[in-house]
Amino acid sequence: MKTYLVTGGAGFIGSNFIHYLMRKYDDIFVINLDKLTYAGNLNNLKDIENSKNYVFVKGDITDTKLVDSIFHKYNVDYVINFAAESHVDRSIENPMEFIRTNIEGTFVLLEAAKKAWLKGEQWEEGKKFLQVSTDEVYGSLGETGYFSESTPLDPRSPYSSSKASADLLVKSYFETYQMPINITRCSNNYGPYQFPEKLIPLMINNCLSGKDLPVYGDGKNIRDWIYVEDHARGIDLVVHKGKIGQVYNIGGGNEKTNIDIVKIIINTLRKLLPDGDIRKEAISESNIKYVKDRKGHDRRYAIDSTKIREELGWQAMTTFEEGIESTVRWYLDNSQWLEEVTSGAYEDYYKKMYIDRERG
Ligand code: NAD
Ligand code: TYD
Repeated sequence: MKTYLVTGGAGFIGSNFIHYLMRKYDDIFVINLDKLTYAGNLNNLKDIENSKNYVFVKGDITDTKLVDSIFHKYNVDYVINFAAESHVDRSIENPMEFIRTNIEGTFVLLEAAKKAWLKGEQWEEGKKFLQVSTDEVYGSLGETGYFSESTPLDPRSPYSSSKASADLLVKSYFETYQMPINITRCSNNYGPYQFPEKLIPLMINNCLSGKDLPVYGDGKNIRDWIYVEDHARGIDLVVHKGKIGQVYNIGGGNEKTNIDIVKIIINTLRKLLPDGDIRKEAISESNIKYVKDRKGHDRRYAIDSTKIREELGWQAMTTFEEGIESTVRWYLDNSQWLEEVTSGAYEDYYKKMYIDRERG
């Protein structure tokens, strides 16, 4: 019976990862440590909240006392660190929380795991610290080329810099103390439970609520999209089979410009909504508004996943066509989830982030 400490498990990828674990294994125990920021939502885990092999702890990964107490109470085998401030636009407006959670929080977790797992000179058998990172630490690509694990780190936003800092701390615990670690660096995820500040759910929500569709700059920036369950499977493989101390890139192999993504969402919604639904008639490319570009906007991300494919046998299994259709369907079927996360503070966020862009 393995015990997982999943941090940030109430967020988008963390909750999908916990669902993946619960479907795949029945002999595990999962502790979900999450602060429940605006991005954390226990509704994402409603179906498993009463499961006997799951417990939720509300708290902050920078809280040393709390994190230590979890290691004292449970025999943690794996730490999977998803907890982070994750949105680039917010990091541009207000970087402080990114430094605190992403860097300091990772440090607190590393120290707690080291205290619990290092016995004299010897690490306890079967332990692992997996840092969930991002391709954004590699910076921005031109029209050609791919990020491999040996691409130099060149982060360009406060978000990606804080993630790169955390990666370096994790690497230092391997180099200095031989801590059993892995780092995974994944491309842009999409799927159920993603907060509608990120491109895909924001566009779905705006289409459904009759708002403009704000495309930054010329709309030709490129991201490499991966369905969240493929990412979850990659992390699980790295936990069990990844070579200690190694970094593994995980990429969708699916590059698209932002403007193409927006048009695909429009078409998918128009296909899935029934005739006669008043929202359907209002969804159109004429709602696309080119707005002021993001500061320091990375032009292109594209991942070379050769290493995880050849060493661990991983590959993305969901085509973009299947993934985007089931994602759009999920948002249509879960309109209450969407309503709840877009009420209250979301309106203020939206106004603050987008009104100036439209004027600019
Ligand atoms: P998210 O913003 O949806 O979720 C983050 C979760 O962390 C939330 O539940 C939040 O409440 C929690 N959290 C934030 N600060 C915390 C703190 N101090 N203590 C405890 N919990 C805290 O993010 P996501 O998109 O699910 O991303 C998860 C991880 O994956 C992040 O580390 C991110 O950098 C990485 N990642 C994301 C993507 C992507 O496309 N979304 C791609 C590659 C890597
Ligand atoms: P995002 O989902 O924020 O992910 P990231 O910046 O971490 O890759 O944005 C994806 C792309 O979409 C990015 O190039 C910025 C662009 N974008 C828009 O054009 N409009 C929007 O409203 C948002 C949120 C993003």
